[in-house]
Amino acid sequence: MSDTPQPILLADYTAFGWLIDQVELEFHLAPRATRVLSKISLRPNPDAPAQDFFLHGEELRLIWAKINGERITPEVSKTGLTCAVPDAPFVWEAEVEIDPQDNTALEGLYMSRGMYCTQCEAEGFRKITFYPDRPDVMAPFKVRIFGEDPVLLSNGNPVAQGEWHDPWPKPAYLFALVAGDLRAVSSSFTTASGKDVELNIWVRPGDEDRCDYGLDALKRSMKWDEDVYGREYDLDVFNIVAVDDFNMGAMENKGLNIFNSKCVLASPETATDADFARIEAIIAHEYFHNWTGNRITCRDWFQLCLKEGLTVFRDQQFSGDMRSHAVHRIQDVLMLRGRQFREDNGPLAHPVRPESYVEINNFYTATVYEKGAELIGMLKRLVGDDGYSQALDLYFDRHDGDAATIEDWLKVFEDATGRDLSQFKRWYSQPGTPRLHMSEAFEDGTYTLSFAQDTPPTPGQDVKDPQVIPIAVGLLGANGNEVMPTTVLEMTEAKQSFSFRNSVEGWVLDGPAAAERISGAAPEKPTPSVLRHFSAPVILERDITPETLGFLLSHDTDPFNKWEAGRALAKHVLLTMITQSTQPDALYLDAMAQVAADSALDPAFRALALGLPSQDDIAQALFDSGQTPDPQVIYDAGQSLRDALAAHLEPALAPIYDAMACPGPYSPEAGDAGKRALRHGALGLLSRCDGGARAEALYQAADNMTDQTGALTSLLAIAKGGDQVQAFYDQWHGDRLVLDKWFGMQVSLAKPDQAAQVAHSLAEHPDFDWTNPNRFRALIGGLAMNTAGFHHESGAGYQFVADWLIRLDSKNPQTAARMSTAFETWRRFDADRQDMMREQMQKIAAHDKLSRDMGEMITRMLD
Ligand code: ARG
Ligand code: ZN
Repeated sequence: MSDTPQPILLADYTAFGWLIDQVELEFHLAPRATRVLSKISLRPNPDAPAQDFFLHGEELRLIWAKINGERITPEVSKTGLTCAVPDAPFVWEAEVEIDPQDNTALEGLYMSRGMYCTQCEAEGFRKITFYPDRPDVMAPFKVRIFGEDPVLLSNGNPVAQGEWHDPWPKPAYLFALVAGDLRAVSSSFTTASGKDVELNIWVRPGDEDRCDYGLDALKRSMKWDEDVYGREYDLDVFNIVAVDDFNMGAMENKGLNIFNSKCVLASPETATDADFARIEAIIAHEYFHNWTGNRITCRDWFQLCLKEGLTVFRDQQFSGDMRSHAVHRIQDVLMLRGRQFREDNGPLAHPVRPESYVEINNFYTATVYEKGAELIGMLKRLVGDDGYSQALDLYFDRHDGDAATIEDWLKVFEDATGRDLSQFKRWYSQPGTPRLHMSEAFEDGTYTLSFAQDTPPTPGQDVKDPQVIPIAVGLLGANGNEVMPTTVLEMTEAKQSFSFRNSVEGWVLDGPAAAERISGAAPEKPTPSVLRHFSAPVILERDITPETLGFLLSHDTDPFNKWEAGRALAKHVLLTMITQSTQPDALYLDAMAQVAADSALDPAFRALALGLPSQDDIAQALFDSGQTPDPQVIYDAGQSLRDALAAHLEPALAPIYDAMACPGPYSPEAGDAGKRALRHGALGLLSRCDGGARAEALYQAADNMTDQTGALTSLLAIAKGGDQVQAFYDQWHGDRLVLDKWFGMQVSLAKPDQAAQVAHSLAEHPDFDWTNPNRFRALIGGLAMNTAGFHHESGAGYQFVADWLIRLDSKNPQTAARMSTAFETWRRFDADRQDMMREQMQKIAAHDKLSRDMGEMITRMLD
């Protein structure tokens, strides 16, 4: 593609000139020549500016078109068609032919291992028929499907075999169709108002025994949305389909969710604890979209965070309620820092609500999703739990049936709570991660915390205005007691100080109310616990000694900050090891020994505390402090620290390993999963001492996938496990989802100097079906995740990933473009590595079938 595609701008929004009263679709399925008949009733939209009639349409063969029953000859281009239309209500009809078999982009109607399925978000419906394919055009749909397959599904309620009516007006991106030889695993749910809903998970024959957990998670989600948000389901049936070839995790099509099979199918033998937890979260996420996304949708794609940020926030609340709030918060922050901070601090930084895009699929990002969810969390913290529920009730009342905007969203909070959110709105338009510098002062019994915020420049935005930052703070006394419970400070200025006085009830935020309660006793300087619960998505910068971190790790009552103190300590140790070639700090090792053995703490928490910051995290921290990270040195430091931890903790870990065994049948519940997480964390360290003896025994005895992969991971991490790799393959080569793990583990755990070679050999393996996105992500993504391997000085990792991205880009631009983010950190590194990465990106940009998706990504990364 030589012509540079024009960006779409938020500022250019105009409403569509017509309203649609009804859509009727008829599908005549055939793999190479599916016929789609459409009948659409339109009438002029009184609120829209005058415009030419334009319908989107791509890769469609138009057979005929009619207006009010009369044949017409529209003007068809590569992106759609135009024609003259009456200035009155009219009926548009057309017949088109499409080729699902040839659709390797997996967008629109395509085939996955012989079954028909669709993915229409964001702009895939235009590959099915001519239509105003934009989220603000909402209409009720009636669908008839003719085909040889026994199961023919679409949105809404079933009317007859292959016939579906969806009474709820919806945008085209929520349309779905599935046809195939499928089996249902079924259940039902009775809503709060007593309506029975039929629930089905549709799978290929043979997968029926992997649906129970998904069904159970669905019922719990339905109940939770009634209990917590007062939202009931609104159709007679809720269908979920598992599809093997899928670009994303899952899709919330009205009444017919379509899932990547890895995000719904699970049995103890084939899925890990982490898989179960993810399945629960994604089932909930897609279900929750029924209200936040479907009943209330987005006016345009710039508003994507309106549905995604809110729905992620809701699924995080749900997972916290189902499992442990503390553990989930830590995991969510790990993910935010690992993916979103990385994005926000590089060339792909963009606002939570972007203002321009070339290809919207490139904006289904950690910023829109995860930072978008953090903004909701901050709003809730600022207006309080009651304010939040009132605002949400108002949102559902006022906007049900609408295609809404972030302005609408913030307005309900303002109207419900009386707060002015104009400054808060900057969070939606200012990309970049704010740095929050903190300092303390203690004078005349007054304790003062001073903060300064600044956000580094991001592409296209050099100057940042101060944002509202809710800073949750607690204070601890010298003996470790909490002397001030969590108090939320609202920072609104670039620089701001908050003072605390010692009152009869302990420390309080200074102010008129506090004055009378000040106690006479001379207080000691308290120790602050700042940004509790990770109350804002910022980077906290402060001078803090390892001793204070150790103190917080032992005493903080906020579980997140307790973990955070350990994490900061580990980071400090690693950074000093790297920059000053020191030995691992004994203070850290002792602190870890204590946490590991502290049976008062949740095992899942202890497992998280034992983890080290990622190599990517350390690279960013070095870069931030003005140094050039060397991936090999970072890797080596991590290895030495693990060795030191292993040696130091061995006496504590051996009994933990035994104590954390879960006797009896496998259960994916949080309690057992937490024990296994700690057990496997201990195993990873113990394997460095016992040469892998325990891991080999665990592999041998394992009766579930968590233990099997846990054991294998520990072996691969010490460069052992050859026999187990072969045994794993022999056992699982017939299982697509498990085989993805086999590919992924070997590459992501290979030694830095071998990773590219391992990836290369695996790419020659007959089971490497690279057109399947899961398999491609397992292998190529596995190498990109192997930080030191990908960045190995030979450049072999860069070249391998680039070559495969080029190959995939001509078939499946969306997945290829998404994975190009492997290169987004290129500017952090030394000149040689920068040159090699730039060269690979230029090579990608020069390939002759460069997609719009990939073209945009490479341009943004190189600019
Ligand atoms: N709305 C889906 C979800 O988050 C994601 C689908 C995105 N698909 C895409 N092709 N961009 O649940
Ligand atoms: Zn979503």
